[in-house]
Amino acid sequence: MASDLSSHLELGSSLTVPNVQELAASIPPNENIPERYIRQEVNVGLVDSIDGDEIPVIDLTKLVDEENIDGEELSRLGLACKEWGFFQLINHGITKQVIEKTKNDIMEFFKLPHKEKEAIKQLPGHIEGYGQMFVHSEEQKLDWADMLTLVTLPHKDMRFWPKNPASFRDTLETYTLKIRELVDCLYRLMAKDLGVDPQVMLDVFSGQMQSIRINYYPPCTQANKVLGLSPHSDGIALTVLLQANDVNGLQIKKNGKWFLVKPKPGAFIINIGDMLEILTNGKYKSIEHRAIINMEEERLSIATFHLPRTDAVLCPFPDLVNVDGELYKTISVKEYTREYFSGKLNGKNALERMKLRK
Ligand code: OGA
Ligand code: NI
Repeated sequence: MASDLSSHLELGSSLTVPNVQELAASIPPNENIPERYIRQEVNVGLVDSIDGDEIPVIDLTKLVDEENIDGEELSRLGLACKEWGFFQLINHGITKQVIEKTKNDIMEFFKLPHKEKEAIKQLPGHIEGYGQMFVHSEEQKLDWADMLTLVTLPHKDMRFWPKNPASFRDTLETYTLKIRELVDCLYRLMAKDLGVDPQVMLDVFSGQMQSIRINYYPPCTQANKVLGLSPHSDGIALTVLLQANDVNGLQIKKNGKWFLVKPKPGAFIINIGDMLEILTNGKYKSIEHRAIINMEEERLSIATFHLPRTDAVLCPFPDLVNVDGELYKTISVKEYTREYFSGKLNGKNALERMKLRK
């Protein structure tokens, strides 16, 4: 059955929590929001937003054109993965039409009445569907967001796929297949940058499991006291993020400071996940990030996650084990996934536990 794969990978489940879109709409403007959303540790107003300190912008057309030429863009890609763990990808070849349709259908879904969205709500023990993730205790602070999670490859469980808007399923299928091709192209280029045999890299990653998370962040009158998505690194190999409307909110941590990512029109935000950090023996970095909330405007994003083969073992590519030796414990993809999804989002904690030397 379709859901076998996700349960096989133990993506876990989450406690049921209130729907934030409904909650946000029900609180009068001068009334406080529930205590469970108030985060003592954040004062988003104090964010360092260093002008000019932008994540690298990588041009895929240049990368592909220069494959046999000077490799300047390739070394920029390498630097982005090593020093930032994040970059914006432009001229990626996915048409404006596909992107606009995807954004549009996502926004339409979240405009539906609550009852209609509930038709695809998470079922007990499942992570797919409309709801939340990473909530494991009644005391845990909650994120100011609702999510729709779907496995897109290799099998889809259509019970959780919206039927409305009518084009949603086709749109998402087209979008995720295009992203899958793009990601395989990036893996090949990364192999070249790393000096790893591309075939070895593609054997582990090409055409493997993909899932999406659509994040819906309602506005909040106390926006500087809540978080849309707690600080975390992504527990997979590679993420492609598309901001679905023009409201910014993704922040990444660099040199101990948070700063805001400002996506260029039509660009994807790509980031390295924990599993790619382990497989590259720490050469590529999985960076902590979070999402903040806007006081007036809702924000939507779609994250597409890519895993290695689910039967793979995470240990560094032999070409990348130099004099330092291996820097991470060897762990299977299944085991890392189980560990990652059984906890709350907590910075880079899951990855830190894998390090052999602290
Ligand atoms: C994620 C994520 C950031 C955003 O879904 O893992 O980091 O801007 N999203 O929504
Ligand atoms: Ni993330």
